[in-house]
Amino acid sequence: MAEVIDGKRIAAEIRGEVKQAVDELAAKGVVPGLSVVLVGENPASAVYVRMKAKACEETGIKSEVIKMSEETTQAELEAVIDRLNADESVHGILVQLPLPPQIEEQDIIFRIAPEKDVDGFHPVSVGRMMIGDLTAFRSATPAGVVELLMRTGNDPSGKRVAIVGRSNIVGKPLSVLLSQKMKGGNATVTLAHSRTPDLPAVLREGDILVAAIGVPEFVKAESVKPGAVVIDVGVNRVDDDSTEKGYRLVGDVAYDEVFEIASAITPVPGGVGPMTIAMLLTNCIQAAREITGVS
Ligand code: GUN
Repeated sequence: MAEVIDGKRIAAEIRGEVKQAVDELAAKGVVPGLSVVLVGENPASAVYVRMKAKACEETGIKSEVIKMSEETTQAELEAVIDRLNADESVHGILVQLPLPPQIEEQDIIFRIAPEKDVDGFHPVSVGRMMIGDLTAFRSATPAGVVELLMRTGNDPSGKRVAIVGRSNIVGKPLSVLLSQKMKGGNATVTLAHSRTPDLPAVLREGDILVAAIGVPEFVKAESVKPGAVVIDVGVNRVDDDSTEKGYRLVGDVAYDEVFEIASAITPVPGGVGPMTIAMLLTNCIQAAREITGVS
C-alpha cells in the first residue's frame, strides 16, 4: 500500500510562496504579468488556460488570456508574439500547445523572447538547462516533478530513476534535470520509451518511476519495483458515460494495482498537474525579477 502524494497540497504551499514574492515585488512597484495565448478550440487546452489564469489571479500575478481562432495564420500569431515581446508590462509569454496544424509550432516557440519564456520551451532555455545553467527557466512539468520529489522526502540523489516517455515537454528535459549535478538531481536516469526492448524489466530498475508516455494506464504492476516511488505525469481522457462529463481522467499508471506495491504514488488528478501550474507561477516571478532588475 502506497502513500498518496498530495500534489494539490504541495502546489498550494508553493502558490503561498509565490503570493509572498508577488507582494514583495508589488511593494517595489513591480506587478508580474503573464500573457497566455490560446489558439483554437481544443477543450483540454481551454481548461488548462483557465486554470493558469485563475492561479495567477489568486497569487496577484496580472494575467491576460488572448484567444485566437482555429483559423489563425502563422503571421497573425507571430504578430501577437512580437507585440507581447515588446510590451514592458508583460514578463511572461505562454502559447498553449498543441497549435492547429497550419501553424509551425517550433517557429512560434522560437519567436518568444527568451527572457519571457516562462514555459521553458525556447531552445535558449532548453540549451541553458542542458549545460547546467541553474538560472535557466525550467519547463514547468519537469520542474514540478523534481519539486514534488524534494518536498516529499524523496530526494533523487543517488537513486535510479526510470522515465517512460521521451517528449520534449516532459521526458527529455526531466531526464536532464534529474541527472544534473545539483540539488534535486544526481540521479542515475534511464529514459525509456515505446521502442525500449523488455520495457517492464527496464522500468523495474527504477527506485523512482516516472510515467509520461501519454497512454492510459500503460504502466502495470509488473513494471514497478516493489517500494518504488511512482510519479504519474499522464492526463488522459477516457470515455465514461456514467460520469456527468461523459469522460474521466486517468493517468499513465494502472493506479489500483500499482498502489499495492509502490511506496508512494501520485494520483491523477491531484498529483503532478497542480505542480505544473505552481512552477509556471514561480517562472513568472523569476522573469519579472530578471527583466525589471528588482528582486
Ligand atoms: N500543453 C501541454 N502542456 C503544456 C505546457 O506546459 N505549456 C504549454 N504552453 N502548452 C502545454
